[in-house]
Amino acid sequence: MGKTIIISNRLPVQLQIDNDSITAIPSVGGLATGMKSVHSGSDSLWIGWSGLTQEEISEELEPKIDKALKENGCSKVSLTSEEIDGFYYGFSNRTIWPLFHYFLEYSEFETDSWNTYKAVNQKFADAILEKAEDDDVIWVHDYQLMLVPEMVKEKRPNTSIGFFLHIPFPSYEIFRTLPWRKEVLRGLLGSDLIGFHTYDYERHFLSSVRRLLGLEVSFNEINLEDRVIKVDSFPMGIDYKKFSDAASKHEKNTADTQSELQRRLNVHKESTPDAKLILSIDRLDYSKGIAKRLNAFEYFLKKHPEYQEKVRLIILAVPSRSNVPQYQLLKKEIDELVGRINGEFATVSWTPIWYFYRSMPFENLIDLYTSSDIALLTPIRDGMNLVAKEYIATRTDKTGVLILSEMAGSANEMNESLLINPNNFDQISDALIQAINMPKEEQIARNSILQKRLERYNVEKWANDFMKSLLEQRETTQKFISK
Ligand code: ADP
Ligand code: G6P
Repeated sequence: MGKTIIISNRLPVQLQIDNDSITAIPSVGGLATGMKSVHSGSDSLWIGWSGLTQEEISEELEPKIDKALKENGCSKVSLTSEEIDGFYYGFSNRTIWPLFHYFLEYSEFETDSWNTYKAVNQKFADAILEKAEDDDVIWVHDYQLMLVPEMVKEKRPNTSIGFFLHIPFPSYEIFRTLPWRKEVLRGLLGSDLIGFHTYDYERHFLSSVRRLLGLEVSFNEINLEDRVIKVDSFPMGIDYKKFSDAASKHEKNTADTQSELQRRLNVHKESTPDAKLILSIDRLDYSKGIAKRLNAFEYFLKKHPEYQEKVRLIILAVPSRSNVPQYQLLKKEIDELVGRINGEFATVSWTPIWYFYRSMPFENLIDLYTSSDIALLTPIRDGMNLVAKEYIATRTDKTGVLILSEMAGSANEMNESLLINPNNFDQISDALIQAINMPKEEQIARNSILQKRLERYNVEKWANDFMKSLLEQRETTQKFISK
């Protein structure tokens, strides 16, 4: 086997131009944070978009940009601002993202953005073809690049291609509404192995393949004339050690080494030892259910006034896709909700919600995870949700309660948390009461099981399982051809 080529729209670092120098900042989002751990431990090459537009990349800056990417094991695909509009803000995030998350009413079906999506997918495929040798293994990631496998397979039929979808694959009834549904399926079928986070997503995909393309599907294999494609579920894990080590280190911080955030959180804890901190961390995205969560929290405060001044909700929302109108509207809605709820319930000594709209350095994420008594994660639909796993991994003394939406892929593996339906405010309110009053021994018992599972099924195991399956598939295909 040759080298592994990872390809995704988002690279593990985003480049920014400050005067004439280039800064690489870590990307946010499950794909980038998860794959980064896999990539840094291997000699893979990662191809993707640098975060800059082609217009911003002058001849003078280009070598510096390439160097900064090379230092991170990456190579760029350059996209013009027009391409970014049609491909990224357009088809990827105004058509596929809402559709695959069951927000059908947000999905726009525009031929121009579809055409740009095709053209940009071809650019990514060309970048692979330029770098790949026949014995390399290609691993394509996520909904922005669903046509790439077919484009590469056409030119390099002997190259092994794996594809992993990091978001849900919707039911056939939803997927069939897409005007270009067959093209998308054919694009994916250029792969030898197609992976999903859960068995349900896998089942939905196979059902669409059968009903829309009329192909023969036996169990989890799709039979084509000249090869067999395997479809399977691989629930993505986290870099468990990175989070648990960071949390242990965090505990040893002294007054000199503490971050300002850690210091303030400690002051808060010392001054109100009975008060509970409830945490949520997400990209600011409608699929994450942030507005509903705020409404549910308000419902809880009204229904159980005895908990006022005893709880505080910390919302960390990371700016995301802010050129898409739905994200701008959501930002406004959340700003207003936080203002209204704080205005209605705050007292001179208590503000119910602390709201941060920004990205934070890793150390501050750890400050938040380790200081919070409860994590409240209520996505309306989420492919996996790694934040839930990260919260548990940082609980070094095994205390803490995770309240998690059953609509998140991670809920399948986290039965010991308090699972809720994000649309059921009574259930969320009851779960909050249960979490606030949960005895320490019960917290420890639940988290011990979760931690063992997360430590075992970490991101490295996820990547190894996927690669092993892809290589086995390569052998099956070779046998199939030589028959
Ligand atoms: P999604 O992939 O939809 O954004 P996930 O919960 O699966 O959702 O992944 C989010 C990832 O982004 C996590 O690994 C989390 O640690 C990271 N992240 C979230 N917020 C921040 C932040 N403010 N700064 C840095 N990383 C963040
Ligand atoms: C999700 C998607 C990723 C994406 C990430 C951040 O995790 O599955 O493909 O990279 O969100 O979104 P962004 O649009 O900033 O890349």
